[in-house]
Amino acid sequence: MIDIKPSGAALGAEIRGIDLSQPLDEATFRAIEAALHEHEVVFFRRQHIAPQQHIAFSQRFGELEQHVRVDCCKPGFPEIFVVSNVIENGKPIGTQDAGLFWHSDLSYMAKPSRGSLFYAHEVPRDTQGNPLGDTMFVSTTAAWRGLPEPLQRQLAGRRAVNSYTKGYYRDRKSGARPSLTEKQKARTPDVEHPIMRTHPYNGRPCLFVNEGYTARIAGMGEEESAALLDQLFKHLARPEFIYRHQWQEGDFLIWDNCATQHCAIADYELPQRRRMERTTLCGTAPF
Ligand code: SIN
Repeated sequence: MIDIKPSGAALGAEIRGIDLSQPLDEATFRAIEAALHEHEVVFFRRQHIAPQQHIAFSQRFGELEQHVRVDCCKPGFPEIFVVSNVIENGKPIGTQDAGLFWHSDLSYMAKPSRGSLFYAHEVPRDTQGNPLGDTMFVSTTAAWRGLPEPLQRQLAGRRAVNSYTKGYYRDRKSGARPSLTEKQKARTPDVEHPIMRTHPYNGRPCLFVNEGYTARIAGMGEEESAALLDQLFKHLARPEFIYRHQWQEGDFLIWDNCATQHCAIADYELPQRRRMERTTLCGTAPF
């Protein structure tokens, strides 16, 4: 019913023939949702939508998060988190350095985000006009399947500690981020999640540790935990599990935060402008 073109990588598909500025009937919406569960990352090219439409389409999946970094939300639209290197009136219009390492959004919360909807307004380009600032996505379902069985058995039933503080301070370029406030710290205590997480919609096992926010394996000595996490992070970065998205202005891309992780590539700088806007879906407690 909808036209889906898989990327040919372990994950990712383009959905063609849909104009997100127009009303979508329920059957079409459900087909898009099913494609997301199947392909883990889906995207639509050449979209022209207003912030209200971005929010309204996102809300068809469920409730939206309001990011802990309120300083990076779009004025008048607290549901929209701005990812951009643009400075206006001497102030950054969003987060300048988000996601420069592998992570899934809000894995540091008790209920990590279900998925994120990312709209490319401005894409930086090199002097030949080639797009810069790609985003890489890894399939955590493919990564789990790719683990040797004895390691899968060792990990099943184990939990790992996820820490917003770890990612926050690691992420920031020098001077680009204020220190966390007491209120932000209170919203983001460390949390434990299962390392083998069951996808809440299709039951697939996912490898749910990420380089950005996973600090240690619960109940394991520091050295052993660091060595095992290092092994898992290297495994998750294997090229056969990755889809790399090259952005075009007007791309609207949805990623699943259980079945994928992502990493933004910072290979551009002003005056090359990158301006992206994200809504973030609320999720459920991992099991
Ligand atoms: C993010 O992690 O939300 C940002 C990803 C990107 O900028 O490509």
